[in-house]
Amino acid sequence: MKLAVVGGGSTYTPELIDGFARLRDTLPVEELVLIDPAADRLDLVGGLARRIFAKQGHPGRIVTTADLDAGVEGADAVLLQLRVGGQAARNEDETWPLECGCVGQETTGAGGLAKALRTVPVVLDIAERVRRTNPDAWIIDFTNPVGIVTRALLRAGHKAVGLCNVAIGFQRKFARLLDVAPGEVHLDHVGLNHLSWEFGVRLGGPAGEDVLPRLLAEHGGTIAGDLRMPRQILDRLGVVPSYYLRYFYAHDEVVRELGTKPSRAAEVAAMEKELLEMYGDPALDEKPALLGKRGGAFYSEAAVDLAAALLGGGGSGVQVVNTYNAGTLPFLPDDAVIEVQARVDGTGATPLAVPSPDPMYAGLLAHVTAYEDLALDAALRGGRDRVFKALLAHPLVGQFEYAEALTDRLVAHNREHLAWA
Ligand code: G6P
Ligand code: MN
Repeated sequence: MKLAVVGGGSTYTPELIDGFARLRDTLPVEELVLIDPAADRLDLVGGLARRIFAKQGHPGRIVTTADLDAGVEGADAVLLQLRVGGQAARNEDETWPLECGCVGQETTGAGGLAKALRTVPVVLDIAERVRRTNPDAWIIDFTNPVGIVTRALLRAGHKAVGLCNVAIGFQRKFARLLDVAPGEVHLDHVGLNHLSWEFGVRLGGPAGEDVLPRLLAEHGGTIAGDLRMPRQILDRLGVVPSYYLRYFYAHDEVVRELGTKPSRAAEVAAMEKELLEMYGDPALDEKPALLGKRGGAFYSEAAVDLAAALLGGGGSGVQVVNTYNAGTLPFLPDDAVIEVQARVDGTGATPLAVPSPDPMYAGLLAHVTAYEDLALDAALRGGRDRVFKALLAHPLVGQFEYAEALTDRLVAHNREHLAWA
């Protein structure tokens, strides 16, 4: 089996390699190609990747290259984990929206729109080149904003599934709190990427006993603390919102807080510098603890599970992924991309049936889905007016004055990445 990782020079890659090494029985990778235009990073990351495989006795071959077409040739699956413009562009996404009193975040709100506009054309170009050399390959998309990027890929007819680590993070955390094996925990996870809620926590499988009420009663304080939300919200709703709902439920508080500290991008850039220095140490042969301070915990395990299921081998076969709604949530269009539990096999991902969320959730989901539709249109066709409309339609913007001011800033800060600007 051959896998290719686009954005393989990411400082996150050792997390992926560690997962491939530990879980080689589930996903027997014979060749792993790390593809990245940044030769210096790729050398450092590739070197550590080879040492991790060697230490764990993994027989797979690790190849590094800047040549996308050569790298994806013959790959059974291609993982996309790129960041157009790097942490510098992210830093801007997290900063200029604050000037208008709006949240500055890499996937939510105006910053997320900027990221979508920079990213969708690049990802579509890569996917097209993958399809040309390799029409049967699966594309696994980690590239944010995952919902919009996956929708772009699916609409263009690619064999793609979007993946995020929010659900697996909850699964692992709840398993620890309940003192059961992670595989025993099945989440009623419903929503869009970075806009999801856990409506139930079932033991043993999709039809198992729902222990969410007990979990909230016994561990509500811990869970709310990790999410940095008041426990009251969890108790009153009786659900666990993802961390990203904080940008909605506590928007103004977050804006105030962000105004008083360095951006996450700045923090991450400092960590990346330190990580790359560590990766250059020939004595390092495992993923360093510092990587645990990044947000990507367990993403390798989610990736292994998904790739194994798509490539017809092992894997749990049921996993939270991003794919077409196709009637699952009746209040959303069929071609919206949602994030839910799905059955995954060699034919792709098929959402499992879920109870339709009540208006408290359906309203916000429909609203953000409409925004995502307009965001994708702006990413595909460009133009200031399409950017403005997407912003006006976003529930965290909504007002003419803000949408205008944010449009100006988005365009000014992203000119070099937008062909039409
Ligand atoms: C979580 C999200 C990812 C996001 C990451 C950011 O893992 O699910 O989509 O990319 O956090 O983490 P960072 O360490 O870059 O802030
Ligand atoms: Mn994510």
